[in-house]
Amino acid sequence: MKNINPTKTFAWQQLKNHFIDIKNIQMKDFFNIDKERFSNYSLFFEDEIFLDFSKNRINYETLRLLFMLARECYLSNAIQSMFLGDKINKTENRSVLHTALRNQLNNNIVVDNINIMAMIKEELKKIKKFSNSIINGDWKGYTGKSISDVVNIGIGGSHLGPYMVTESLKYYKNHLNIHYVSNIDGTEVVEVLKRINLETTIFLINSKSFSTIETISNADYLKNWCFLRTKCKEYFTRHFFALCENITAALNFGIHDKNIFKFWKWVGGRYSLWSASGLSIVLSIGFKNFESLLYGSYMMDQHFLHQELSHNIPVVLALISIWYTNFFNIETEAIFPYDTYMHAFPEYLQQSYMESNGKSIDRNGKLVTWKTSPIIWGHSGTNSQHSFFQLLHQGTMFVPCDFIIPAISHNSVNDHHEKLLSNFLAQTQSLAFGNNIDINSKTIFNSIISNNKISYKYCPGNKPTNSIMLKKITPYSLGALVALYEHKIFVQGIILNIFSFDQWGVELGKLVANSIFNDFFKKNINNSYDSSTEGLVRIYKKWSNI
Ligand code: F6P
Repeated sequence: MKNINPTKTFAWQQLKNHFIDIKNIQMKDFFNIDKERFSNYSLFFEDEIFLDFSKNRINYETLRLLFMLARECYLSNAIQSMFLGDKINKTENRSVLHTALRNQLNNNIVVDNINIMAMIKEELKKIKKFSNSIINGDWKGYTGKSISDVVNIGIGGSHLGPYMVTESLKYYKNHLNIHYVSNIDGTEVVEVLKRINLETTIFLINSKSFSTIETISNADYLKNWCFLRTKCKEYFTRHFFALCENITAALNFGIHDKNIFKFWKWVGGRYSLWSASGLSIVLSIGFKNFESLLYGSYMMDQHFLHQELSHNIPVVLALISIWYTNFFNIETEAIFPYDTYMHAFPEYLQQSYMESNGKSIDRNGKLVTWKTSPIIWGHSGTNSQHSFFQLLHQGTMFVPCDFIIPAISHNSVNDHHEKLLSNFLAQTQSLAFGNNIDINSKTIFNSIISNNKISYKYCPGNKPTNSIMLKKITPYSLGALVALYEHKIFVQGIILNIFSFDQWGVELGKLVANSIFNDFFKKNINNSYDSSTEGLVRIYKKWSNI
């Protein structure tokens, strides 16, 4: 993997000049010039996912220069390196191999002289057997009853990925109720406990490191709570499971070794839903559907590996994002799934994008002078239309957005889906073309400007969107969609010359929280605090009588 400063490339310099030429061009003019713009600026992934990127402030020259940028940054080499298992996560000296978890070929992938494919297959077998026994009712709780509820205790990647997928694929769900406890706020665990019956519930402690304070505190609380209620030593063996990399910590916690499902150091937390960390997904939709999810992501991996840059969906989306972030200077990007099942998708992507690319030191150890990750936000449509879309249409900033919708709904009720789809289309059209009026030209409609005042109804348009249409949200297409975004993030990290697979900023917060926590119980407050933190700790201690 080469460490190229993107701003020093020939393409970057050219893009700067090109930006001056293009920045005032209206989207409607792009469409007027090129009657085939829709077909020229769109791509299929099989017969499953369709990307329309025509409503962007780009033309052929923009794309030509962006592809040149990708080549100058040796993107193709970096892609190969990741798939081959090179230790591209240099700051943690690790390979990045979530792609191996879904690999369908019979090849070997070797990390530190070990063929990891054999380990992955072994673990998948174990997951299959266990999940079947829970779903079929063969696995019995301590009083001999079958399992009805599953509680996943995990945070960050050990929560958001599994949660997003089980929600997105709720249509495929079986009889098991899946609950998630992530926050250290005691309310979450207490509220989940109100909904479950200990006799028929299993707990999955989902933590790669098996040391994350939120997860271990919740797991500890549940362990004691269950023991106090059941008074049964066997309870723990029949009801508690660990999904982790740190086997020793799980054993020390008291988890039976047969109840440990492994994943590995080369699986990043936010890329772990494809591993044992996704056990709650398997329990919710069954192993066969989980296999389809893996297969869909594998096929997207193949697309990413083999399609030339101009037809490579993750590459095209990543480059367009770099274009807005670094040349138009935009600060945020939004994701709007027009599918209720996919409501957790923006939240999931927030972690993937921002924990991966929210960095400011480049791969040469220098502060970046360019922009890395935009802020990612979003919500499900059409609810967002009746909330913050006003700002998208008429606010002072512009926000590139991805609109995502299935062509076929799982729940067709009257003409609901057609109405949903027409809203989806209306939004991307209105954002692109506004009320179709050019404020600077002389042909302004009288109704928009009168007495030298601009109508409050004026919507300028020229706001870019990508439309992503899935044929249907299935395990296969969702797997492909998630992998698409994973690869988009990877491409951005490579070109922006940052390390996408560590999260040292998050680690700092964890360290400081530990030291503050310990201070709550000391008589004297650590006097190395700043006056604000110290003042807040004092008030807290006074009000809570500590
Ligand atoms: O939030 C930081 C982080 O390290 C994430 O990357 C990870 O997904 C999460 O914490 C949970 O970590 P673990 O699975 O080790 O409990």
